[in-house]
Amino acid sequence: MKIAIYPGSFDPITNGHLDIIRRSSKLFDKVIVGVLVNVDKKGLFNIEERVELIERVVSDLPNVQIKSFHGLLIDFMREEECKILIKGLRNVTDFDYEYQMAQMNKKLDNDVETLFMMADGEYSYISSSSVKQVGKFNGNIRGLIPDSIVDDFEVKIKDLRG
Ligand code: PNS
Repeated sequence: MKIAIYPGSFDPITNGHLDIIRRSSKLFDKVIVGVLVNVDKKGLFNIEERVELIERVVSDLPNVQIKSFHGLLIDFMREEECKILIKGLRNVTDFDYEYQMAQMNKKLDNDVETLFMMADGEYSYISSSSVKQVGKFNGNIRGLIPDSIVDDFEVKIKDLRG
């Protein structure tokens, strides 16, 4: 069984993330979306909420599972007995950062292979942080995140508005 892990912060999941998950789910028997528990950074959504929102938007993809992890990604991959890591790339800035991480992960575990999937042009400008910024200042975030999570996002982002 070919298993791949797609890791990230997903605060919140965007349409760009969802596109990568959908495309990956066609290439692998199982895709595990790994949501990083980052104790140093308080997010808009807590981990349980992020997992719940992702589960909602991938409910039509039976071979996609959502799990949270903390610590090193390669340790999570060992626990899941998975050797394939999927990363989405939007631009060369992503590439610079991801290239370094791929090398580090390879150094930590030589069996891990990082596969890069280019973001669809339609989504290549979207990031969770830009969505939060737009939302914070009352901009229109429709089309940037899945429709089914827009209401949850609006409720949370209200707290950030002055
Ligand atoms: O969505 P993000 O925030 O760009 O995702 C980054 C993530 C979670 C993939 C990355 O921060 C990560 O793998 N964190 C776990 C710690 C780790 O294993 N780092 C790799 C060595 S530098």
